[in-house]
Amino acid sequence: MKNQLDQIFYENYSYKPQYEFFAPGRVNLIGEHIDYNGGLVMPCAITMGTWLCIGKNDENVIRFRSLNFDEQAEIPAQSSFSKTASEWFNYPLGVINELQKAYDWQCGGLDLLYYGNIPIGSGLSSSASIEVVTAFALNKIYNLGLDKLNLVKLCKTVENNFIGVNSGIMDQFAVAFGEKDSAIVLNCNTLKHKIVACNLQEYSLAIINTNKHRTLADSKYNERVQECQKALQYLQREININNLCDLSAEKFALHQHLIVDETLLKRASHVVKENDRVISAAKLLAEGNLHSFGKLMYASHQSLKELYEVSGKELDTIVDFCVSYQHVIGARMTGAGFGGCAIALLEKGFEEDFATHLSEYYFSKVGYYATIYVEEIGDGPKVISGYEN
Ligand code: GLA
Repeated sequence: MKNQLDQIFYENYSYKPQYEFFAPGRVNLIGEHIDYNGGLVMPCAITMGTWLCIGKNDENVIRFRSLNFDEQAEIPAQSSFSKTASEWFNYPLGVINELQKAYDWQCGGLDLLYYGNIPIGSGLSSSASIEVVTAFALNKIYNLGLDKLNLVKLCKTVENNFIGVNSGIMDQFAVAFGEKDSAIVLNCNTLKHKIVACNLQEYSLAIINTNKHRTLADSKYNERVQECQKALQYLQREININNLCDLSAEKFALHQHLIVDETLLKRASHVVKENDRVISAAKLLAEGNLHSFGKLMYASHQSLKELYEVSGKELDTIVDFCVSYQHVIGARMTGAGFGGCAIALLEKGFEEDFATHLSEYYFSKVGYYATIYVEEIGDGPKVISGYEN
């Protein structure tokens, strides 16, 4: 499909696109539900992503089309836009709106055609991918002069203010800063990051889609964000911290009695220990100790299941299978949870065997099939044509 995007653009808009851009999706290796608590995460970009062909028109309308969705839109260029129901084009429309609001700029007539091969609503950040590819493209085409970090921040405001999900910054950051065969260790409080080599040796990164669709807007995501804020307020009655992740697990143990609500205590315990796990995981990855890294992935999953309660039957079925399958050394849910995808470190050469056995097991427990991909860690956004990179 992506090879025919030019041609399809022509068929839709009767002229050739002037530019083509790409932005990836992401997986998070470890550090889940940490970004909005000011801690460390370790995501990487994948090779699946979103392609955007784009051209300027002189009719002063903005047209949105996608090969993935039937809905299309034709909206007059204007100084501000509002979200319409829940169609896909709210993401790029939100980018235009937030760019106009934050920078002294007005979008002119544009024709846009998108194609993505990230499964939608699967926790691989198809929404961050479409936001970043749009912001990246507009920044180039209109010479807006934003650096990558500003693009990331802008895309986060789209999610928070236009779409209405109180998500953190991890997804947009991973999509924008991803580098091939590398993971990003991002401090979500300071926004400082390190690119670290992600040598998986004799293992591959398997992504297993539960095929349980969900959107963050209709999940309990915002509820978890609020619970963490409440837990923080309890702690702040006696200690001077800005984020849950300001505490190490040891310090947390000294103050956890301040959180008098049992559910909130579970949420905060996950956050603090998961943050510590990222510190250990980064060291283990640097040492090439993938077996211990894999154990931390399992521990992370357990905590997301029991303390944070964002897993579910489908994700647990996948991880349970991985525990029993001797050629996997670590697995966990990735992203927000409530469905979506799991990731696993799978010994090379066992891809088919794994897929066959996992599929049977999953079907027998869940009643429909999971989809299994073996993914490469890919690069961040790029120009495909129309500009020098
Ligand atoms: C979603 C959000 C991110 C992050 C993860 C959970 O992907 O968009 O900001 O909170 O969930 O780690």
